[in-house]
Amino acid sequence: MKMTNLTDKTIIITGANSGIGKAAAIQLARLGATVIMACRSAERGAQALEDVRKTANSERVELLRVDMASQASVRDFVAEFSSRHPRLDVLIHNAANFDHSQTKPVLTEDGVETVFATNHVNIFLMTQLLLDTLKASAPSRIITVASQGLMTYPFLDIEFDNLNGQKKFSMQHAYYHAKQAQVMFTFDLAERLKGTGVTVNCVRVGNVAIPDERLTHLPKFLLKLYEMKRKFALTPEKMAETYTWLSTDPALETVTGGYWDAPDKPAKANKNACNLETQQRLWDVTEQLIRK
Ligand SMILES: NC(=O)c1ccc[n+]([C@@H]2O[C@H](COP(=O)([O-])OP(=O)(O)OC[C@H]3O[C@@H](n4cnc5c(N)ncnc54)[C@H](OP(=O)(O)O)[C@@H]3O)[C@@H](O)[C@H]2O)c1
Repeated sequence: MKMTNLTDKTIIITGANSGIGKAAAIQLARLGATVIMACRSAERGAQALEDVRKTANSERVELLRVDMASQASVRDFVAEFSSRHPRLDVLIHNAANFDHSQTKPVLTEDGVETVFATNHVNIFLMTQLLLDTLKASAPSRIITVASQGLMTYPFLDIEFDNLNGQKKFSMQHAYYHAKQAQVMFTFDLAERLKGTGVTVNCVRVGNVAIPDERLTHLPKFLLKLYEMKRKFALTPEKMAETYTWLSTDPALETVTGGYWDAPDKPAKANKNACNLETQQRLWDVTEQLIRK
């Protein structure tokens, strides 16, 4: 990875208290960036903040609370961020809900199914609220996160009649459905932002080891599955190098609308993700799911 000095850069990473997000926070803080760790839990966030500061040997790391399942929390986060920081160079939408203990659809306080809210709608909202700052800080970058697991759903499309899991729900399906929405959002937003100096790229995260302590609530068969997957998994640190590359490489300053596998290889999205009509409809429907 080409080393870049990031001392004048401000970077937000959601879900930075664990896994890939935390590893990316360390890598970017080491390069001198001001890193905002956007975390749901005050306790887990504070512990991670201490680890990141110590490991990166940097004091330019801050913790700000956000619950990506709540539109009000996203709005509060952006207000707090904006009161402290005049610029934003990179926004990394890393946080995601893949809580396999959820077996039924659960609506958020905004009336949106939790997985779709956390992994798509509120990412859209946070992006919209930060867009003026990103534009004013251009060249700047937005990074979204999808999953290689989408390859096992080659025909997956947005289910406009099942956004809240009202017709059918499984955690796995809801998760990949929201990730598919993120891929479409990336392609659509990249087109809309052409000429603004703000780029948008999506990382297709593969099999990455998840820390043991995050799996304790899972049933035995899923624990076994994760144990098996771990034998072939990348470390969060290795995967985070792709986030760091997309966040920093000067050669990518104008590269937008990309979909990337680790370490730096273009990936191909499924056909439905490239459907412009569906992208537009998803955009409109997502806007409607946001409280005014
Ligand atoms: N690991 C894999 O094999 C894999 C595969 C494909 C894609 N991915 C994607 O990679 C990204 C990072 O995952 P990871 O492997 O690093 O998992 P992880 O260690 O479990 O990290 C997930 C992060 O998201 C946060 N989060 C979840 N719900 C949130 C909410 N409502 N508000 C704010 N933060 C929330 C978690 O915070 P809490 O501590 O509060 O829960 C945690 O910090 C995710 O987008 C995931 O979908 C991972």
